[in-house]
Amino acid sequence: MNIKIFDTPEVQDFLQTVSGLDNDQGNPRAKQIIHRVLSDLFKAIDELDITPDEYWTAVGWLNELGSAGQAGLISPGLGLDHFLDLRLDAIDAAANVECKTPRTIEGPLYVAGAPVEQGFARLDDGRDTDGQPLVMHGTVYDANGKPAPGAKVEVWHCDTRGFYSHFDPTSKQAPFNMRRTIIADDQGRYRFRSILPSGYGVPPGSPTEQLLSALGRHGQRPAHIHFFISAADHRKLTTQINIDGDPLLNDDFAYATREGLVPKVTERSDEASIKANQMDGPFAEIEFDFALTRLVDGIDNQINEARVRAEG
Ligand code: DHB
Ligand code: FE
Repeated sequence: MNIKIFDTPEVQDFLQTVSGLDNDQGNPRAKQIIHRVLSDLFKAIDELDITPDEYWTAVGWLNELGSAGQAGLISPGLGLDHFLDLRLDAIDAAANVECKTPRTIEGPLYVAGAPVEQGFARLDDGRDTDGQPLVMHGTVYDANGKPAPGAKVEVWHCDTRGFYSHFDPTSKQAPFNMRRTIIADDQGRYRFRSILPSGYGVPPGSPTEQLLSALGRHGQRPAHIHFFISAADHRKLTTQINIDGDPLLNDDFAYATREGLVPKVTERSDEASIKANQMDGPFAEIEFDFALTRLVDGIDNQINEARVRAEG
């Protein structure tokens, strides 16, 4: 069809009106953003001849997505979370802030209020017996490269079925299973025991999966462990590590795998290691250090407090 109306004065005036740009009430930033996003959408409808049926299919999908609480699930799948990270990287590069530990997406499954432990924590409750025992440890460094005693290591991951506590469709996990906050010791060290997580998949049949299928894509993530790392006078770091060897390492639907975030996994089965780590048998060991970055103009310029997060 060759009917295009986007550039007509009527449509352009209409966009001003619906975005509130012809009144002096409301929020100027909201008006600016809505005007831009709505203009882009009008233009797409016009240029691609999006039919009413296609449009209302999308509205129906949005309603389903919202009632399933999955806006935060499709967002990484559409690359938006990673795009925000790329922008933060570019902003940091321009400000000469070096991120020795790369940031990567938070994902939608953090829960605030996990138990706080000093130096060491066991994350799993021992009931997921399919999991290979894991010991992960390392040091948190400050912006000057010195250890950061008292740094806060918030860690969360899923079980061997790919389910996170608080979001487990089988309700089998206790609250805060595989979630802890560890306070680094006087040498900036943290350590935890858990199990190696499996990969994660978006809920089968969900609106999130439907859209990914329409794009010919899967909704799977390689096995990963999430972290928030924070310390006084430093910016909070949001990152993840991937479990090396996972076949989806470079095929993550959320695009979160990054160079520098795939530490070596060492299999330990000798008695000395088992004893030294107070384990009951063979285990996997991961050593990984985190480097924090300085405040920018005295503030954490990347904090994102507006994000809705679950409270445990
Ligand atoms: C999603 C789930 C995750 O566990 C994660 O780390 C990132 C994204 C998701 O469902 O979109
Ligand atoms: Fe995750």
